[in-house]
Amino acid sequence: MIDRNGIGVRRIRLGVNIDHVATLRQARRGREPDPVRAAVLAELGGADQITVHLREDRRHIQDRDLELLRRTVQTGIDMEMAAVAEMVRIASRLGPDLVTLVPEKREEITTEGGLDAAGQVRSLTRVVRRLQKAGIRVALFVDPVPRQVRASRETGAEAIEINTGKYSEAAGDRVSGELEKIRRAAALGAEMGLRIHAGHGLNYRNVFPVIAIGEIEELNIGHSIVSRAVFVGLERAVREMKELLP
Ligand code: PXP
Repeated sequence: MIDRNGIGVRRIRLGVNIDHVATLRQARRGREPDPVRAAVLAELGGADQITVHLREDRRHIQDRDLELLRRTVQTGIDMEMAAVAEMVRIASRLGPDLVTLVPEKREEITTEGGLDAAGQVRSLTRVVRRLQKAGIRVALFVDPVPRQVRASRETGAEAIEINTGKYSEAAGDRVSGELEKIRRAAALGAEMGLRIHAGHGLNYRNVFPVIAIGEIEELNIGHSIVSRAVFVGLERAVREMKELLP
């Protein structure tokens, strides 16, 4: 982005993950809170993208949500999904702006780790191609491990989302080591021409060292923003995060 003096300025896009608004609704299998309303408020607060994970078990976001979001979201939609035929069909029909491929296990509470891109380059390449044919950009959610970054490039995906989960959970001496892995993965990916996104477990405190990594263009943040929203409202919670980002 160029500022009014014609000088290039770095901006990080904020994708707001609203899955947990749907989690609250599904706790009663009812109608509220509605993630579609959440998306409107997140956009008012400055979200650059609405991120939702349509899980195979539909534990939070439902097909109906995605259909309505597609018609109402003004910024862009990042659909997180498993690389399986059912999801590829849904994405191809609805046309989110971005698909982020994630591993999925039914018994997990949240996405636990990155995709094993290195172990499934051929099948992921097929999925990436099908989505791109439908006009969708594709990112792979991977751990900050060089071989996973290289494999992601091989699949033809435009971007990687670096899993910041381990960094977010690290304490004490381990924090700087985890951060260094993210730095190196971001540098390697960018060198190979991949766009660099990051996310998982980021909050209003631990986000600072991550945004200092120059290659990162986009963050996807959910739980910490929705948690804060319980107390201050969603629009303000999003705005407060947005104000921390360059
Ligand atoms: N990015 C990906 C790929 C995810 O699976 C998730 C969790 O759904 C997030 C980002 C957001 O993580 P959190 O809710 O911890 O901010």
